[in-house]
Amino acid sequence: MTDILARIGELKKRRNAVILAHNYQIPEVQDAADFVGDSLELSRKAAGLDANTIVFCGVHFMAETAAVLAPGKTVLLPEVEAGCPMADMINGRELRAWKECHPGLKVVCYVNTSAEVKAESDICCTSSNAVAVVNSLGVEEALFVPDKNLAAYVARETGKRLIAWDGYCYIHHRFTPRDIREARALHGGAEVWVHPECPLDVIDLADKVLSTGKMVLEARTTTRREVIVGTEKGIIYRLAKENPAVKFHPAKETALCVHMKMTTLAKVLRALETDTHRVEVPPHVADRARGAIQAMLDIS
Ligand code: 13P
Ligand code: SF4
Repeated sequence: MTDILARIGELKKRRNAVILAHNYQIPEVQDAADFVGDSLELSRKAAGLDANTIVFCGVHFMAETAAVLAPGKTVLLPEVEAGCPMADMINGRELRAWKECHPGLKVVCYVNTSAEVKAESDICCTSSNAVAVVNSLGVEEALFVPDKNLAAYVARETGKRLIAWDGYCYIHHRFTPRDIREARALHGGAEVWVHPECPLDVIDLADKVLSTGKMVLEARTTTRREVIVGTEKGIIYRLAKENPAVKFHPAKETALCVHMKMTTLAKVLRALETDTHRVEVPPHVADRARGAIQAMLDIS
């Protein structure tokens, strides 16, 4: 591992590259990254970098977002199979057809979508800013793709009518009220944090509803000694590393996104050595997708 890390370090310097990693990545990858964050933080970072190459340790839509926001830079996704099943639940053609059924309604797309879907949307959002994004629209009704769980939560928080696509994250959708009740019974007195991609009946049993980035911030100031975390289990590594005085328990041991675990240090090295796998977005799609992402960055 030391050899791989040394080689990654050399190549990063030679190529003026940075490594961005999502909070769900495996520990070695998080440790090797220059920046670890949630979807919103990683988008902001990609937009502001002056590196030539971005190695994106996450899933495909994240690398695409970086490519859209950093035109002219080389964006590499170390594992080409690392996609997001939720993002694949809607494509540009399906969204165009759906918009025709709802003429005049604005479209909010979750960042977990392809660039093609973003290009068909008015504004993008992440789990950190979805409530603020919907409030900023100044309308009472809008279309929301693809996550029906996030849409239900945001609709309730904003009082707006959101017509949602029938998509979901297979990790968060599987959390149940029983998981939360059992975790509370096991870790008496612990606070419960859940991600807004969870179903509403799970959210209703939580103490706090937080994106992964907001969990990281909350952990720095919490006065609680034990926290139950209802999101993909990979975030526990970062929470525990940064806050050794707090005990973090996963609300569900099996909450593991296989796509987020496909990236390894060996694949990061291969990406830097062989320029694989380059993520490119055709300029006519990128320009329109950038409009939706920029609209989001402007309000958050
Ligand atoms: P955030 O890190 O933005 O909370 O998103 C979670 C997620 O599911 C990313 O795939
Ligand atoms: Fe997609 Fe869910 Fe995996 Fe995130 S955790 S990449 S939303 S499937």
